Amino acid sequence: MALVPVTELLQRADREGYAVGAFNANNMEIVQAIITAAEKEQAPVIMQASQGAIKYAGLEFITGMVKIAADAARVPVALHLDHGTDFDQVVKCIRSGFTSIMYDGSKLPLEENIAVTNKVLEITRPIGVSVEAELGKIGGTEDDIHVSDREAMFTDPEEARYFVEKTGVESLAIAIGTAHGQYKGEPQLDFARLEKIKKLVRIPIVLHGSSGVPDEAVRRAISLGVCKVNIDTNIREAFVWEMRRRIEADPTEIDPRKLLGPARDAAIAIIREKIRVFGSCGKA
Ligand code: G3H
Ligand code: 13P
Ligand code: ZN
Repeated sequence: MALVPVTELLQRADREGYAVGAFNANNMEIVQAIITAAEKEQAPVIMQASQGAIKYAGLEFITGMVKIAADAARVPVALHLDHGTDFDQVVKCIRSGFTSIMYDGSKLPLEENIAVTNKVLEITRPIGVSVEAELGKIGGTEDDIHVSDREAMFTDPEEARYFVEKTGVESLAIAIGTAHGQYKGEPQLDFARLEKIKKLVRIPIVLHGSSGVPDEAVRRAISLGVCKVNIDTNIREAFVWEMRRRIEADPTEIDPRKLLGPARDAAIAIIREKIRVFGSCGKA
């Protein structure tokens, strides 16, 4: 199957009350793990590459690997730029074959975020590439921020309504208490805020920093309008912990395939688990 845009996947998820998993792809084994897990669960899937992943693997390699995997897949696969903060990078990804873009202008003043998001939409609309924007600031768990300061970074519902009205963006990433990376305690999500935002914007909502969020909280967020759930850290943990176990079990092992193969299997297992929590199994 050729790569598909994200819009249709999310609109169906929105209508039917589930979420599509968006998994970060950093190397060949993880690309393969994401596809294998999605096929086993018969789920549509979003493969996403961050600017860091593109820098690490090279744009042509990332696009090439995902295209090859998608062409052979029996489920719909989209290729999405995760947290694109640079307009030129966005253009390069579109030229390379990405079917979806996140333009993350969350660090910019509101009007500037709107202006650049609209510039991106001018390019993507005629060619059917999907666009996700971000409003509010989704921090990292490493940022030692006081709760009240963290809440000040949360997405303002009225601002979200205004942003969507001024851009017509297809999906919106919001800050409601999740953070990127490994959590120190249990994340507390602001569900009331999510509900308010969803009522005002009516487009698919994206949850970032979803690794480590308890399954029940993820399910509740999905029931309130989250249609795309981003997972990276949980894959990294599964992959690296398995490699570490293998190395510790046999420090003389020098065949990378004997370490990377089991790591890939561990990634498949966690991605399948997530897909089941998101309710997208059987929706391909
Ligand atoms: O949202 C952040 C993702 O986990 C990507 O992280 O920039 O280290 O690739 P990265
Ligand atoms: P985690 O690494 O916390 O799962 O976040 C992933 C993410 O939001 C990618 O955009
Ligand atoms: Zn993110």
